[in-house]
Amino acid sequence: THHDTKPFVLFIFGVTGDLTRRKLMPAMYNLYRKGFLTRFRIVGFARRPWSTEYFREQGMQMLEGQPGSADLKQQFIASLEYLQSTFEDPAGYERIESFCDGFRHRLFYLSTPPASYQEIITQLGKHGYGDNPRGFSRIIIEKPFGRDLASARELNQLLSRYFSEPQIFRIDHYLGKETVQNIMMLRFGNAIFEPLWNRHHIDHVQITVGESLGVGTRANYYDKSGALRDMVQNHLFQLLSLTAMEPPSSLTAEGVRGEKVKVLQALRPITYKDVNQYTVRARYTAGFSEGEAAPGYLDEDGVPPDSTTETYTALELYLDTWRWSGVPFFLRTGKRLARKVTEIAVHFKTPPLSLFTPDLPEQAQNVLVIRIQPGEGITLHMNAKIPGHENAMRPVNMDFSYGSSFGIPAPEAYERLILDAILGEATLYTRRDEIEAGWKFVTRILSGWEKMETPVVGYPAGSTGPELAKLMIGRHNRRWRKL
Ligand code: BG6
Repeated sequence: THHDTKPFVLFIFGVTGDLTRRKLMPAMYNLYRKGFLTRFRIVGFARRPWSTEYFREQGMQMLEGQPGSADLKQQFIASLEYLQSTFEDPAGYERIESFCDGFRHRLFYLSTPPASYQEIITQLGKHGYGDNPRGFSRIIIEKPFGRDLASARELNQLLSRYFSEPQIFRIDHYLGKETVQNIMMLRFGNAIFEPLWNRHHIDHVQITVGESLGVGTRANYYDKSGALRDMVQNHLFQLLSLTAMEPPSSLTAEGVRGEKVKVLQALRPITYKDVNQYTVRARYTAGFSEGEAAPGYLDEDGVPPDSTTETYTALELYLDTWRWSGVPFFLRTGKRLARKVTEIAVHFKTPPLSLFTPDLPEQAQNVLVIRIQPGEGITLHMNAKIPGHENAMRPVNMDFSYGSSFGIPAPEAYERLILDAILGEATLYTRRDEIEAGWKFVTRILSGWEKMETPVVGYPAGSTGPELAKLMIGRHNRRWRKL
């Protein structure tokens, strides 16, 4: 593919933070290395008393371990500039113009804690940076995008005062993952799946995002968030939308996002009376994780002793559409689980007549597993005859693995996403109505938990999750896939 990017300046607010180091700088460098960037400048905008020289030194360190010669890295680093200012000081914003000398196009990347978003957006807007008569002006916003429906709406309203929707790029890094993009290819680039992709043939769907790590050093953020806000509202809902959406008539940003949002809008609301039946709220207790003793969530650094934050949640969801009516979607995500795994498992109905009996009833189901990470690929579980004189069968796998089929490493999620923002391609970014539909559903559960005083049950670190989640899916004679 050949992409021509126009010369641009990228302003990164909060450039001294962790995201720049881990993701943004390596992503920009790799785009440069691969020849996607013709002419550009990266301006770090932050409070700390760094200089351009110091920023460049730091930038060089951020590229450690990346491919390419020291010379190439130096060339890249030479495009870095530093603008020191607090986010409140108008003088800082006035200086933006002078960093754009010789460039027509601008991107503003908000990579600060969300508490600063309002200030930065307002200042940018008041200084007129929402408009750019000479070129484009775009704003990229990191998660979390609000913490409930009201705050997400407020943020959207503020943004729309100064920027139009096509200028706004809301990041969900899951959409940058190759395997997530592949969900649409699998469904709509092949003819054999779509005819089966409905209530007539699908028994249920399981979406799992398990992590083996705990909260780490992020308790400060995480304790005010929890699994439902941190993972479900964004990442799991994106996976759900792509799995359940109708075929778009084109691949334009509006075409794809228009279909995705309908999925979230079709979610049957879980009212407070139902939260204890359709949701599970849990947090990890002390246990063993990756061969080591791991403390419980309440004993992690920075977690208040009276915390009620969930580190795990499971949901039973229904989509009120003709395609999906009556098909349960089981979602689960948690920290400190047995394994890091993200997958979508589509469980098909059993054959109408069982001529051959498998050992376990659920083995009669074909399961299509889309492995998002790790071991990226797709597996179809089928049943096959065990060689011999008996009519015995057992499940076997039909396997596609990204690694062995393509043998080329997939670009980092941020690489693809930043390139798209530079190109003005918004398909892989979240639209305003998607964000609000997701929050609307999630906010109702959050207030239901509060109202019903839904207990936060425990699960040992390193386990497969709480018993209650097994009971939830077990009510339907179904079981979670092995973690
Ligand atoms: C982030 C969450 O958005 O996604 C983290 O804030 C989580 O809590 C992370 O660990 C998971 O992302 P990935 O790419 O490792 O699956």
